[in-house]
Amino acid sequence: MSALRPVAVVTGGARRLGRQLCMTLAARGFDLVILYRESRRDAQSLEQEIAALRLGGHTRSLSVDVSDKIQVETLFNDVASTEGRLDLLINNVGNYNPQHVTQLDPTVWDATLSANLSGAYYCCYHALKLMSAGSNIINIGMAGLEGARADVKGTDYFVSKSGLLVLTRSLAAAYGERQIRVNMVSPGQLDNSIDLPPPDEIEAWVPLGRAGSLQEITQAVEYLLEANYVTGANIDVSGGYRL
Ligand SMILES: NC(=O)c1ccc[n+]([C@@H]2O[C@H](COP(=O)([O-])OP(=O)(O)OC[C@H]3O[C@@H](n4cnc5c(N)ncnc54)[C@H](OP(=O)(O)O)[C@@H]3O)[C@@H](O)[C@H]2O)c1
Repeated sequence: MSALRPVAVVTGGARRLGRQLCMTLAARGFDLVILYRESRRDAQSLEQEIAALRLGGHTRSLSVDVSDKIQVETLFNDVASTEGRLDLLINNVGNYNPQHVTQLDPTVWDATLSANLSGAYYCCYHALKLMSAGSNIINIGMAGLEGARADVKGTDYFVSKSGLLVLTRSLAAAYGERQIRVNMVSPGQLDNSIDLPPPDEIEAWVPLGRAGSLQEITQAVEYLLEANYVTGANIDVSGGYRL
């Protein structure tokens, strides 16, 4: 590990979008702390995959439940003593339960809000203490957050992501003075979505007529890493979904 290499923490980093984000960041020269909750094997195989690229960076993975304040504090203390710096936090955890609001159990509500919103806040709170000018936080949202809208399927998820947008903008406003940028990237229907409409119906939902790819989401993240005059932004990468 080199003191000159930037360090990134990615939550939910072992699988799916998180994995793609980690591969992209490794290729961009980041040392990585990949957080997972249960997917230890995926995290280990990701570490191996990155090591096989011989990029010269350092990658490690840790199991942390982001909804647990103590685990999150312990993690960032560990980053402080091991990596000694933090340049990027990506809050990628976003549990989605497509339950109708009339059936929404309070236990599910609590679990969603604590992982997707409180967990992101705990990570931001501790990450910001390690960050300096030029550092970034990128929160992963969902398309169509602008305006207070109804969403009867997955209401807990929608509320958590709406809260995450307010958190994104509030932190952006507060930490601009320290030259720390805080932004959001909001996917729509991705080709790995659990409730993707069939190909012949997707045009009814997505004006560009297809699901998005993981690479199209990481493109927006890479843009934000370069965009030194952008903070508090929310970029929908959704083919027009929920316009
Ligand atoms: N996929 C889509 O179509 C889509 C669409 C719109 C927005 N998004 C957003 O994009 C992001 C990534 O989506 P995805 O579908 O790739 O995610 P995902 O597979 O649903 O979840 C990513 C990881 O989050 C981790 N996780 C869940 N609860 C956790 C907790 N309490 N503490 C720590 N880790 C926890 C899980 O880790 P373990 O496996 O280790 O347990 C999981 O692998 C999310 O924020 C999602 O809301 C995705």
